[in-house]
Amino acid sequence: MKIAVLPGDGIGPEIVAQAVNVLQRLAQDGLKIEMEYAPIGGAGYDAAGDPLPDATLKLAQAADAVLLGAVGGYQYDTLPRPQRPEQGLLRIRKGLGLFANLRPALLYPELASASSLKPEVVAGLDIMIIRELTGDIYFGQPRGIEIRGGERVGVNTMIYSESEIRRIAHVGFGIAQKRKQRLCSVDKANVLETTELWRQVVIEVGKDYPDVELSHMYVDNAAMQLVRNPKQFDVMLTGNIFGDILSDEASMLTGSIGMLPSASLDEKNKGLYEPIHGSAPDIAGKNIANPLATILSVAMMLRYTFGLETPAQRVEGAVKHVLAQGYRTADIYTEGTQKVSCSEMGSAVVAAL
Ligand code: IPM
Ligand code: MG
Repeated sequence: MKIAVLPGDGIGPEIVAQAVNVLQRLAQDGLKIEMEYAPIGGAGYDAAGDPLPDATLKLAQAADAVLLGAVGGYQYDTLPRPQRPEQGLLRIRKGLGLFANLRPALLYPELASASSLKPEVVAGLDIMIIRELTGDIYFGQPRGIEIRGGERVGVNTMIYSESEIRRIAHVGFGIAQKRKQRLCSVDKANVLETTELWRQVVIEVGKDYPDVELSHMYVDNAAMQLVRNPKQFDVMLTGNIFGDILSDEASMLTGSIGMLPSASLDEKNKGLYEPIHGSAPDIAGKNIANPLATILSVAMMLRYTFGLETPAQRVEGAVKHVLAQGYRTADIYTEGTQKVSCSEMGSAVVAAL
């Protein structure tokens, strides 16, 4: 198992270090893991003047899977857009063809009181958000800021081809089959033609999956339903921009954005694994970040790229165990639990393994 490790910026190196400890612990029990590091984001810019240095992309292409921390930092915000850290992330997703982004929002019972919603609303929550990751307004052309009629206008293009919609829809239905066989496709078909086509194609693909119950929801309603009655959802399937927004919203149902892992997969299940949270520069270097989303991303890597369900469940079980023991990083701390640092949390997971 060749893993490219890209810690990135901010809290990225701290949380990735804990996930690497978890991988090393699994290696002691026989998993053959090779890891190689490379810079991305601001770290890539600092090292090579490019948020995605050539060598980093090559390493990622040669690897079986990529483990990524996070990118971004205040000091890079004024750089020209192509040099900004976020571009490194967007380019590696595109460069590796990682069109399918899986973002599970799972509530651990111990964290029900850390959610800003009432415990009874979120208890038992288990949603899988599937976000298309290499299309939509994120990549559409034309784009830019230009002068029209004597004033500045900002332009972006929302665009999806039917083949792009079809392949992500197949991923969505396939995953729904393995869960509770319910798929809700989220669009804005009442206003946007791009998503009118999205809905048509999803309905067409759905004919191949008669065992999956398909529903459709406008994105504004979906945002509302997620906080009103989130347990109505099993799998949510949506485009890049709506998925970006809804997955942040869904994360807070689970108590903290620091708990949510993600997988970004290509056609052959090669994947990039990262927490859905960002680089959190305000808490970087303080050893207080929550490493669990990154550790849970390792579990997703074992499951989706390497097909190793038992070790995946072992990692997830270890996370459940440390939560049951009462360990909490600051973001999920509530009275009566034990506050620990990032590295202490990582060590607790390794000990549980
Ligand atoms: C995410 C992030 C990224 C995105 C940013 C950092 C470019 O918000 O992974 O959700 O918008 O996709
Ligand atoms: Mg986001």
